[in-house]
Amino acid sequence: MYRLLAWLLLALLRDVSALWPRPQTLSTGSTPLRLSTSFSIKYAFNNVPGDLKDAVTRTKGFLANDQLELLTPDRGASYGSAIKKAKQLQSLTLSLTGKGPIQSISEEAILDLTERQESYNLTVPADGSGATLSAVSTLGLLRGLTTFGQLWFSLSDTIYTLEAPIRIEDDPAYPYRGFMLDTARNFPELSTAGAYSSSSVYTESDIKNIVSYAASRGIDVMVVGQVALHTRFLSTTWDLQEIDTPGHTAVIGNSHPDYVACQNLQPWTQFANEPPAGQLRFTDKTVINFVQSLFKSTASLFPSKLFSTGGDEINMNCYAQDNVTQQDLAKSGKTFEEALSTFTQQTHSVLENLGKTPVVWEGKELSCINKVLILLKMDLLRNGVGS
Ligand SMILES: *[C@@H]1O[C@H](CO)[C@@H](O)[C@H](O)[C@H]1NC(C)=O
Ligand SMILES: *[C@@H]1O[C@H](CO)[C@@H](O)[C@H](O)[C@H]1NC(C)=O
Repeated sequence: MYRLLAWLLLALLRDVSALWPRPQTLSTGSTPLRLSTSFSIKYAFNNVPGDLKDAVTRTKGFLANDQLELLTPDRGASYGSAIKKAKQLQSLTLSLTGKGPIQSISEEAILDLTERQESYNLTVPADGSGATLSAVSTLGLLRGLTTFGQLWFSLSDTIYTLEAPIRIEDDPAYPYRGFMLDTARNFPELSTAGAYSSSSVYTESDIKNIVSYAASRGIDVMVVGQVALHTRFLSTTWDLQEIDTPGHTAVIGNSHPDYVACQNLQPWTQFANEPPAGQLRFTDKTVINFVQSLFKSTASLFPSKLFSTGGDEINMNCYAQDNVTQQDLAKSGKTFEEALSTFTQQTHSVLENLGKTPVVWEGKELSCINKVLILLKMDLLRNGVGS
């Protein structure tokens, strides 16, 4: 019994059902096939974008260098003679079935979510005739290459599969997949000093490198500026522009403490969800102008159509105790919700004018905030940004 279970487990680990992301449809056979030593990846079209060529080069590099062995106790050795006798795959041919001019992966990765086409079909015949990968877009070809690279194992110097023929039709299950690279949250000094040290910031060229590195790998980088509350995050965001406009760092951190309510107040638990306390005085027209120009200059560094403006974890007590905010509210005759809505609309309008879709956290803390966020979420949903 245990032996049977172990065998089943090994059978499971061994096969291409371990592909990631898991293809929508996958059919496999049981014929061994190996990559020819002269295996090549070809294009059935001209004007191949540079980042697709790079993706092909990376795929060939993974195939040659990964040396992934079969997950069996003998690492595939018992298949040695079958692999030696196996037919050889000479080539994988990439073709594009989309209409219109060929775009680079980087261009396609930042299209509106509704326009991105990531589907691909991949076939690896068992008889040694050429494998084919077809897609509507270069982004789809990238996804297909990612899958193709995972089909193979190594035994000595031979790269092989035991499961030819393989046919995959794939398409994203969700409109988008995301992950968060949170490099600012753990810098507690940011609200006062801006960063751990003068080198603990993203320079403009760092940003450009990250964005282009990610785009050529089919990843759309959306910056998250937590301006409604997290002024420490704001400082980080500001540091993005330190090279362009060095004076501004001092403006926020030193010259304009008046932009921020309850800055560093203690005990911080009464004024913030996380230390240190400090929230933008969003009722102040000057602060709105400042955030508008911050968004504008930050947005210019990120080609993505999406731009997150935060809206997370607003602490009500901070504003209730902040005389400036209360005076602003009294003067304008607006409720807290109305003033926040004005701030949100005016700061978001800058992004909308740049053709970007603002993205916000789905806040749960306050019913009044929810109104704004739900409204925004509806906008996002209309634009195809599910949540
Ligand atoms: C994949 O194959 C199916 C039919 O099997 C076809 O409808 C679809 O258009 C193909 N997709 C691509 C990207 O070639
Ligand atoms: C805020 O206003 C209240 C009442 O008007 C006053 O007692 C308090 O000192 C003010 N706080 C600050 C920091 O000015």
